[in-house]
Amino acid sequence: MPKNLTANRAALGHRLSYALRHPGRVPRHLRRTARDAWLRYRSPDHVAYYRAVMRSDTRRDPDAAVGSRNRERWLALGAMQFDYLLGHGLRPEHRMLEIGCGNLRAGWRFIEYLDPGHYYGVDISPDILFAAQDTLQSQGLQDRVPTLTPVRDLTLGFLPEGRFDVVHAHSVFSHSPLPVIEECFAHIGRVLAPGGWFDFTFDRTEGAEHHVLREDFYYRTETLTALAADHGLAARLMDDWEELGHGQSKIRVTHRAVR
Ligand SMILES: C[S@@+](CC[C@H](N)C(=O)[O-])C[C@H]1O[C@@H](n2cnc3c(N)ncnc32)[C@H](O)[C@@H]1O
Repeated sequence: MPKNLTANRAALGHRLSYALRHPGRVPRHLRRTARDAWLRYRSPDHVAYYRAVMRSDTRRDPDAAVGSRNRERWLALGAMQFDYLLGHGLRPEHRMLEIGCGNLRAGWRFIEYLDPGHYYGVDISPDILFAAQDTLQSQGLQDRVPTLTPVRDLTLGFLPEGRFDVVHAHSVFSHSPLPVIEECFAHIGRVLAPGGWFDFTFDRTEGAEHHVLREDFYYRTETLTALAADHGLAARLMDDWEELGHGQSKIRVTHRAVR
């Protein structure tokens, strides 16, 4: 189960009690608050702001920039994504689009498994894509010829219609305001093959929707399933993902069945 589904992490009371329970984390949080305020001032647009966050984090440590505190955790979280998708329909002949591929924490495993040329990774951060190239090289996967491409937004207009059997976005919407998610829903159906699916994780709340530093966003499941429906997509919560203890929830989106 995701941790504490009703907490509002943006509320002053929650922040004070968290600080009292974890005083050692306060200086780092204050530094991050100051840095993020500066980056938001320089880049009011969310994607430009988050690109700047990724630039700053990737310079320090690409694994930490995608949310893993060490290489062991990086490998484990990539394996969790890969094993789950393998158990939920991924086959070598599928064509896969990974949105927010980061430094290929899971991507290198997909690239190794899929037929050559069948993996397409996009990310808003050129810096993390450079780190992705390093991963490709260190894993010896050059012959699999994946595509890694920076994007400005999620309109995906440069990709062909009906191309991808599987679209995957892990820990991307947990960093995205609703208009970014809506933009993705508005365009994903065009590139999704008939019978294809789009899996994404998100930080779930059963209380008030909120965000922390415009870095971490918490949504109710019904907000996202309703938004998907507005764009002609069917969405369902993947219950068995919750049992893996990742902390985020996962939704699978498909074309709405024609009745
Ligand atoms: C927490 S990292 C996860 C990376 C990768 N999915 C993984 O599991 O290792 C989030 C990634 O999503 C990217 N990202 C954030 N918002 C995005 C957007 N709107 N479009 C594409 N990529 C985005 C970030 O640059 C970052 O590389």
